[in-house]
Amino acid sequence: MNGQERPVIIAGNWKMHKTRAEAVELSKTIRNAVAGEKDLPVVVLCPPFTSLEAALSSCEKSEIQIGAQNMEHRDSGAFTGEVSPLMLKDLGVSYVIIGHSERRQLFGETNTSVNLKFKAALKHKLVAIVCVGETLDERESNLTDAVVSRQVAAALDDVDAADLKTLVIAYEPVWAIGTGKVCEADEANRVCKLIRATVGNLYGNKSLSQSIPILYGGSVKPSNIDEQLAQSDIDGSLVGGASLNAEEFLALVKSGQKKVGLAASRS
Ligand code: 13P
Repeated sequence: MNGQERPVIIAGNWKMHKTRAEAVELSKTIRNAVAGEKDLPVVVLCPPFTSLEAALSSCEKSEIQIGAQNMEHRDSGAFTGEVSPLMLKDLGVSYVIIGHSERRQLFGETNTSVNLKFKAALKHKLVAIVCVGETLDERESNLTDAVVSRQVAAALDDVDAADLKTLVIAYEPVWAIGTGKVCEADEANRVCKLIRATVGNLYGNKSLSQSIPILYGGSVKPSNIDEQLAQSDIDGSLVGGASLNAEEFLALVKSGQKKVGLAASRS
């Protein structure tokens, strides 16, 4: 926990990488390395659908949480190629990434579908990592704040305050994803603060917004994570490329541990 009693979360989004055998190898290496460690952050691994079961059994009875990268919002039906929240729950998955920019940009997801998926995650008690973030064009047109706050408001449309307990928001500027161009830590923190203020204004409840973990994602590496995690409103990281390699991901987890340990020593 940090000063505001928010959990520190280090989540790996494996995207379309790792066969089952590779998923077993990576998740077992991570599981063994963190076993018995003190001050662990919440560690979440998000393999592709086909490797979820392999990762789940490799991490059984460990602290590691397994998440999906997407889901359909309906429970069942004639939706060829889709995977439902019911099915994820049935496997034992506990987290789900919703509205990743690659889903929005490449697979036509919209603020409306993100809202439906978030409500489905709530219904099935899956912790949702809802992704928001601006494109380079939007940033260069000074639209960052408007775009991000609109994405947050739309995701939370018609959701009760009491339901926000299982919400994690990830700020992932699209231009920083997979490009090696990390967002400056103080700017990332400014946008994370704006996200928090947006939630506070929507519900007229500042303390509610103080309880929501907000992650930064976009070219997070062992060399830049400490600066990000030192910020007041960044509670963890959503990591792509660097989560595919055990050594790099474990270095990120170590940075999360330092943040947890520091907060514990302050309280
Ligand atoms: P990279 O860490 O590869 O930039 O990806 C970030 C991301 O999209 C995590 O969801």
